Amino acid sequence: MTERPRLTVIGTGYLGATHAVCMAELGFEVLGLDVEEAKVTSLQSGQVPFYEPGLPELLQKNLDSGRLRFTTSYEEVGAFGDVHFLCVGTPQKKGEYAADMTYVDASFRSLVPHLRDGALVVGKSTVPAGTAERLADELARTATAKDVELAWNPEFLREGFAVEDTLTPDRLVFGIRSERAEALLRAAFGPVIDVPTPVVTCDFATAQLVKVAANAFLATKISFINAMAEVCEATHGDVTKLSEALSYDTRIGGRFLHAGLGFGGGCLPKDIRAFMARAGELGVDQALSFLKEVDAINLRRRARMVDLARESLGGSFAGSRVAVLGAAFKPNSDDIRDSPALDVASAIQSQGAAVVLYDPAAMDNAKRVHPEIGYRESAVEAGRGADIVLHLTEWKEFRTMDPSALSAVVAHKRIVDGRNALDPVLWREAGWTYRALGRP
Ligand SMILES: NC(=O)c1ccc[n+]([C@@H]2O[C@H](COP(=O)([O-])OP(=O)(O)OC[C@H]3O[C@@H](n4cnc5c(N)ncnc54)[C@H](O)[C@@H]3O)[C@@H](O)[C@H]2O)c1
Repeated sequence: MTERPRLTVIGTGYLGATHAVCMAELGFEVLGLDVEEAKVTSLQSGQVPFYEPGLPELLQKNLDSGRLRFTTSYEEVGAFGDVHFLCVGTPQKKGEYAADMTYVDASFRSLVPHLRDGALVVGKSTVPAGTAERLADELARTATAKDVELAWNPEFLREGFAVEDTLTPDRLVFGIRSERAEALLRAAFGPVIDVPTPVVTCDFATAQLVKVAANAFLATKISFINAMAEVCEATHGDVTKLSEALSYDTRIGGRFLHAGLGFGGGCLPKDIRAFMARAGELGVDQALSFLKEVDAINLRRRARMVDLARESLGGSFAGSRVAVLGAAFKPNSDDIRDSPALDVASAIQSQGAAVVLYDPAAMDNAKRVHPEIGYRESAVEAGRGADIVLHLTEWKEFRTMDPSALSAVVAHKRIVDGRNALDPVLWREAGWTYRALGRP
């Protein structure tokens, strides 16, 4: 059985659907489960219910191969699987920093009664340290099947590169308590390990911490350069030159050192907050108090963007038309969870402007959450009659845009580049007033 275990994936959202499809692509038989029937129907009929480059083709290919199926039945999943990956959401609790563990607990409790003898349950969701230990105790107390066990295998995929990151990750982390659990995990990731991919085996606590530590580090690096952007604004320096110069220092490196509107999405913001909350419970809140500042710097960028747009319009949004390019929290994704772009767009709308937005992939999601904003089907349509254009998500389509296309339709040639991703020389030569965060 450990040769090629049968896999199940519980929770088929951004992480789970990608994991299920990629594991089938690697040759495993995979059964995905979600409680949302519409999601299961969509996946089973070959439609990925979110935007992820490369995933639709692989989904269809693996449905056709017969190795991949989706269901809403825990009974079916329990009977099918040797290794079960838990991939449900762990969003921020409303009104608190801590993670909401409702979905992890509910899915775990739905699965356990159906497990077969010898099954391994593998947590992939990002959780507060201590969760795996708690679930392992519960498994030992409540499972009726023999020799069932828990392991933790945090996930590091990036939306937009999710397929590549799943098939060829930088590393695998296995939080395990037995040789048998390690052997099963090694079998479940055999083709990935053979690439080769480094495997770090460790205890539960470390495995859970690796994920939040990685996110805390990345968030800190982004906020560091955004703090430098604030100082550049006060000194008339240019943060893009500053970060370029820093990037040549091999001790620092250029990745995640790009100043702009800051981070968002369904992971970084809620993960650093949940990490702080858990540190507080553990009595080590001082160790992570710097993350409060990381979060504050990040949120200040959104406020600064709104201020810069207002300043550019002469001090008020009232009666003006604002074109917004981008709604997703980053390019190559339709994910709008905690999106800086949408936060800025809705703040400006509430200050009296008519905001008209275009995004290549995230319009449907944005409309659902912000019906008060206007939506158009292209950058040019969004720009028609605009007093100012705001570039808030750096899709390639925007980065490579010819300013003359917008010049022909806007009321005023003003642009604020919230991502420092446009070429100021090009836009200024085309007669635009170009402004950006952290540079003159
Ligand atoms: N999205 C990412 O890029 C990413 C990367 C690494 C880690 N993670 C972590 O992975 C986890 C999932 O994130 P996501 O972005 O895929 O979230 P998501 O909201 O897209 O997906 C979660 C899925 O779980 C389903 N679900 C909820 N309760 C369930 C239950 N009781 N049984 C079965 N399914 C249930 C939901 O219907 C949904 O489809 C989170 O902990 C997240 O922090 C996400």
